[in-house]
Amino acid sequence: PVEEPIPTPKLSFVPVPKSTADVLTVPDGYTAQVLYSLGDPIKEGVPAWADNGSETGASYVDRAGDHHDGMYFFGLAATGATPDPKASDRGILCMNHEALTTTYLHAAGETRVSGKRTVPDECIKEMNAHGVSVIEVKKNAAGKFAVTKGSLNRRITTFTEMELSGPVRGDSQVVTKFSTNGTKTRGTVNNCANGYTPWGTYLTCEENWAGYFARAADDNSKRTGDIAKQATSLARYGNAQGAAGRHLWETAGADDQFARWITGVTGDAATADYRNVINTFGFVVEIDPYDTTKTPKKRTALGRFAHEGCWPGPVKAGKPVVFYMGDDNRGDYIYKFVSTANWDPADANKADRMAVGDKYMDSGKLYVAKFNANGTGEWVELTFDKNGLNATSPNYPFANQADVCLNTRLAGDAVGATKMDRPEWGAVNPINGEVYLTLTNNSNRGSASQPVNAANPRNYDADTGSTSSSLNGNVNGHIIRWHEDGDSPAATTFEWDIYLFGSRSTYPADVNLSNLGANNDLSSPDGLWFDPRGVLWIQTDDGAYTDTTNCMMLAAAPGAVGDGGDITVAGQTTYKGKNPTSNDLRRFLVGPKDCEITGIAMTPDGKTMFVNIQHPGESGSLAAPLSHWPDGGVTRPRSSTVVVTRDDGGVIGI
Ligand code: FEO
Ligand code: CA
Ligand code: CA
Ligand code: CA
Repeated sequence: PVEEPIPTPKLSFVPVPKSTADVLTVPDGYTAQVLYSLGDPIKEGVPAWADNGSETGASYVDRAGDHHDGMYFFGLAATGATPDPKASDRGILCMNHEALTTTYLHAAGETRVSGKRTVPDECIKEMNAHGVSVIEVKKNAAGKFAVTKGSLNRRITTFTEMELSGPVRGDSQVVTKFSTNGTKTRGTVNNCANGYTPWGTYLTCEENWAGYFARAADDNSKRTGDIAKQATSLARYGNAQGAAGRHLWETAGADDQFARWITGVTGDAATADYRNVINTFGFVVEIDPYDTTKTPKKRTALGRFAHEGCWPGPVKAGKPVVFYMGDDNRGDYIYKFVSTANWDPADANKADRMAVGDKYMDSGKLYVAKFNANGTGEWVELTFDKNGLNATSPNYPFANQADVCLNTRLAGDAVGATKMDRPEWGAVNPINGEVYLTLTNNSNRGSASQPVNAANPRNYDADTGSTSSSLNGNVNGHIIRWHEDGDSPAATTFEWDIYLFGSRSTYPADVNLSNLGANNDLSSPDGLWFDPRGVLWIQTDDGAYTDTTNCMMLAAAPGAVGDGGDITVAGQTTYKGKNPTSNDLRRFLVGPKDCEITGIAMTPDGKTMFVNIQHPGESGSLAAPLSHWPDGGVTRPRSSTVVVTRDDGGVIGI
């Protein structure tokens, strides 16, 4: 049979130049409008953001949180809460609020006295400014999207009660004072990227949760049971004895809304035991966007790590549903979950969406990726008592599948998974089912424990790009991609190559391997999304190129795995890849100062794009904010969602 050529989309916009100005730039003929900023009310009767930090902590239950990140647009019929996947004029936007810039959140910045938080309401505000926004957005009479302050809106915060679902539910390692049978927990935190399911729910992913927990210097001595095992687990996830919490919430009072941020036995052990609370974080969390009465569920079968996001593979009737995931940590792994149940298309339209989630996300096989030097790869199964994952495993004795799901990183270590350059977002090409995943950068690449390998092949100098002197690891990151064997998302083998290397355009050719020029050079790819036409959108979160440009978003029309050959990084390694500038790659947007571009969604008609601008002016102070975006003048900067449209009303990008 003659193979059909792949219909590659053609980009039509004029690329925007790099910029360090405190403005948001989109191509000529496009407009960006601010939709939803930190502190904006989502309910009637809540006062507008005052730009002076005077809002109460409790009021943030009804306001936009901080650090907008991953998001997804769920279409709505013209009225009510009926899902309509084809709707482009009305929908629910779900978005993550990953973290905080406390400088701009409070009246006079963050109050700390002798290493303690002395204004408890500041901490309440911070806990409420994390989590997820679920907001109705609708085109108004002028044809512009606005937030509707309606009954579908809700905030999910670090206080929201959640069910633990899947293998970890009820395990002794998640028993806390709050849930003495280990079936629930309070809240979600550091929600980074996201995902969605074929049955119409939102997935929000817990990334750098470990840093929010304090741990006493003598915690081990107060524990019971297999203390060595508990200590190994806590160390692998980065919760060291003596650690302070990221925001010192644990110091704000004796009440357990503060004490629960301490990993350990505090006060009277009989009544204040949160030694296991950290084990209830680090999961993919499922939320029903259409029903505010539904309790979110932490889907523990998908493993516990610094979950960046969770993206479904191509969905086929009668085949398992698969999800791809990355663990954003230097030298950590890429994962895939394959459901036990085969996809029934009738499940796309069920009213009880969380029950459908139970069917596809609570039972299945978890795999971790190994990338071989010859361009092949394999998914290694992380099932208890397979591949050595049992009590005899040398670095950590696994007790059961709950233990594997709780200590997924240790399982990946045990089976020799490939250590990657910080796995961030994944995206699935709707044209051919291939999976792309950003590896943002890795300052440890080239160290004794993380030598260069074919899938993570670069180690070079940050100033000159030299591969022979003052090596700084993989400074600018790359994007890997793979094709599952037999076009089967559930396959256990695949072919891979490297699609794109971030680089300054001025670096030598053996580091600027993608031959990037002024219109498309980038550093630290992070956000990644394929729109339904097959355009790949790449967003950056960079500290290495900000002397030259603010963070950005590019659009690409990529080819396919295997359309390049072997290329050698001088003196280091050989990888399988292709120069992507033979495809099309162009810069579409540059953000204001000191921001990250992260989070993207589009209406089904391709005419409205939502983009999140995270933490403008993040490293400034109240006295000297580095940015006044989006409100201008002398205002405080705010993380915001913008709506991008084409002035002629056409589809975006192509
Ligand atoms: Fe929250 Fe890995 O980015
Ligand atoms: Ca990210
Ligand atoms: Ca990042
Ligand atoms: Ca960020």
